[in-house]
Amino acid sequence: MEKTVSEAIAYRRSVRVYKNKSIDSEKVKQCLVNASLAPTSSNLQLWEFYHITNEVISSKIAEACLNQSAAKSAQQLVVVVVRKDLWRKRAKANIEFLKKIYDKEGLTDSELKRKKMAINYYGKLIPTIYNDFFGILGFIKFIIFQIIGFFKPVYRQTRLSDMRIVAHKSAGLAAENFMISMSAIGYDTCPMEGSDTLRIKQILKLPRHAEINMVISCGIRELKGIYGPRFRIPFDEVYYRI
Ligand SMILES: Cc1cc2nc3c(=O)[nH]c(=O)nc-3n(C[C@H](O)[C@H](O)[C@H](O)COP(=O)(O)O)c2cc1C
Repeated sequence: MEKTVSEAIAYRRSVRVYKNKSIDSEKVKQCLVNASLAPTSSNLQLWEFYHITNEVISSKIAEACLNQSAAKSAQQLVVVVVRKDLWRKRAKANIEFLKKIYDKEGLTDSELKRKKMAINYYGKLIPTIYNDFFGILGFIKFIIFQIIGFFKPVYRQTRLSDMRIVAHKSAGLAAENFMISMSAIGYDTCPMEGSDTLRIKQILKLPRHAEINMVISCGIRELKGIYGPRFRIPFDEVYYRI
């Protein structure tokens, strides 16, 4: 039986040594479906998930993960990839989806309004935010929004670096959905950013603008694969009730 959300969160640990026992690729894939259901900025879904079950590729990626034991002893690997460059395609997919769901007779005024707003959002606002030219446009937008910001609340995160953070934030949420889903079925994971991301891109033959969000190793824990009790800063130090 699957664990509850709280049980799965409590069970999840970063596992650095896995048992030499295979895991079911279909179940891992299902956990990746759960990953794709994570919330995502503007629903642009600027992510891709590479599920590595091939041993040769796995060992190449483990090497690119600096030969960390979490990667070397893994049964399978998942690479979460950020594809900020796909924003036009994803905006278009959202527009097509919206047109389809609103493609019916007798839309109410509020439905018509919502349809127009949503299509404008993907057709005008998203291009305004995402269009850039080597970071120059983004910086100009940033300055303009800083000036507007003196007078009213405004969206300020428009620089190239800001947009990268936006895309990585959503990919991180997907990664967590994945790891919690794995934990719920008794599978273990370890997120890794300690890697040579350029080499990983080359191994996976990813395009230039793709970015590695993290590599997640997968398997079943050896007890020695959990390096000590869980440490967290006392909750009172990080919790502020306003
Ligand atoms: C973005 C990210 C990158 C991480 N990179 C590595 C890594 O390269 N190697 C590793 O062994 N653990 C890595 N970790 C795991 C953390 O060290 C671990 O989550 C932390 O120590 C807390 O332990 P816990 O996950 O068992 O609760 C990473 C975690 C995150 C979220």
